[in-house]
Parts: sequence; C-alpha cells; structure tokens
Amino acid sequence: MRIVLVGPPGAGKGTQATRLAEKLRIPHISTGDLFRANISRQTELGKLAKSYMDAGNLVPDEVTIAMAKDRMEQPDAEGGFLLDGFPRNVSQAEALDELLQTEGIKLDAVLDLEAPEDEVVKRIAGRRVCREDSAHVFHVTYSPPQQEGVCDACGGELYQRDDDSEETVRTRLEVYHTQTEPIIGYYRAQGLVVTISAMGPVDEVTERALEALKSGK
Ligand code: AP5
Ligand code: ZN
Repeated sequence: MRIVLVGPPGAGKGTQATRLAEKLRIPHISTGDLFRANISRQTELGKLAKSYMDAGNLVPDEVTIAMAKDRMEQPDAEGGFLLDGFPRNVSQAEALDELLQTEGIKLDAVLDLEAPEDEVVKRIAGRRVCREDSAHVFHVTYSPPQQEGVCDACGGELYQRDDDSEETVRTRLEVYHTQTEPIIGYYRAQGLVVTISAMGPVDEVTERALEALKSGK
C-alpha cells in the first residue's frame, strides 16, 4: 500500500506510523525524522533545515522534495510506503503526484488524523524522544518511561525536541492550518481521504486506522 498520513503536529502521526508500517509491512518514511537525522550528523542539509524547524516553519520545497524522492526510490519502498509529514503543502502534493505518475503508481489512501488543539498541545508538551531511535517516543504522563529520561526500548537518552517549545508549537499549528490542511481538500478531490479520530488509547487509534484503511472510509 501507498499511504500518506496527515494531521496536526502532535496528533500521533509518528506513533501510529511506526505501528501501521509494521502491520502493513511497508517502510515508514518521515521527512521530520530524515531532517533530524541530518541535523544530528551535522550535514549541510541538516544545518539548512534546522533554522526553519526551530522556528516552526516549513523547510523549502526544493530540498524537501529532493530528499523525499531520494528516500522513496530506495529498494525497500518499491512495494509501498507510509509517508509521515510529506507532502505538507499543495506544491509538495503536486510534486508527489508527478513523481508517482512517472513511476506509473498511485496512492491508495490519505489517512487524516483528527485531534483537537488543546489535546495536541498537551501531547507535544509532554513528548520525550530517544536520541538513538526516533521511533522510540514517550510521553511524561500518557506513556512514561520506567526510568525518567531513559528509553525503555534501548536505554538511550530521552530528550525534548527543540521545536516543542510553546512558542514554536503555536507557529507549527498555524503553519499546519494555512499550508498543510489545504492538501486534504486536494486529496479529497481525488477520493483518497479517510478521516479518523486520533483520540483515545494508542492501540485503539491503530485499530481504527486499520479498519478505515480496509473499508476506505
Ligand atoms: P515533523 O517531525 O513531521 O513534526 P510534526 O508534523 O509537527 O509532528 P510531530 O512529530 O510533532 O507529531 P506527531 O503527530 O508525529 O506526534 P507523535 O506521534 O510524536 O516535522 C517537524 C518539522 O520538520 C516541521 O515543523 C518542518 O520544519 C520540518 N518538516 C518536516 N516535514 C516537512 C515537509 N514535508 N516540508 C517542509 N518541512 C518539513 O505524538 C506526540 C506525543 O503524543 C508523544 O509524546 C506520544 O507519546 C503521544 N501520543 C501519541 N498518541 C497518543 C494517544 N493516542 N494518546 C496519548 N498520547 C499519545
Ligand atoms: Zn530508544
């Protein structure tokens, strides 16, 4: 399957993408994680991306699209993929369409995760991420690690993302509404959007997502 995951910052895209990718046996491709990996390796791309990310703004399309294209062309993505955080505006969606068209392939669904603003703000404020593996995500109240600051899965250090400060979160939410939400209309016109609530326990949301993908609504 080829799926795009969309939803406001903190809705649980990364959390659900990890689970869905495992169940559906497709790679989880997160442009946010790819940028963060570049930042920690101190590449030129990482240096460029960091200034935009820290301010809560989108990284320019040109570099984002090239990075996403390169990742989607890796052999493990041949049979399908789950895109998390890409596309993030209509021009990225158009670029993705073009790319898929050249390959003669199509998206199967756009999974839209809905969560109210006060909930996503709480989720982001308490989020802690593992330095060793970005798939290891915790929350100080909702899914606390056994030992404060230490990843249960691998013992790595847990940290708070630089862009999770209150001020940056406000910008990210605004950017989501003005730039990313329009892609839902874009994909609705193609009949691809399935919307589910991202509220409730993580496992229930995963079940809801799998059901929705199966039934297409
Ligand atoms: P990105 O990394 O994509 O961040 P985001 O979209 O803002 O989303 P988040 O990672 O904040 O949240 P999430 O929905 O994945 O939530 P999570 O599962 O962690 O992008 C970061 C930046 O990179 C952008 O601002 C931009 O600068 C740049 N960028 C990335 N892609 C780009 C693109 N295509 N173009 C241009 N720029 C781009 O969950 C959040 C918390 O809630 C966790 O603590 C989790 O444990 C908890 N939680 C999850 N589910 C539940 C639940 N059901 N109940 C209770 N708690 C839950
Ligand atoms: Zn870890």
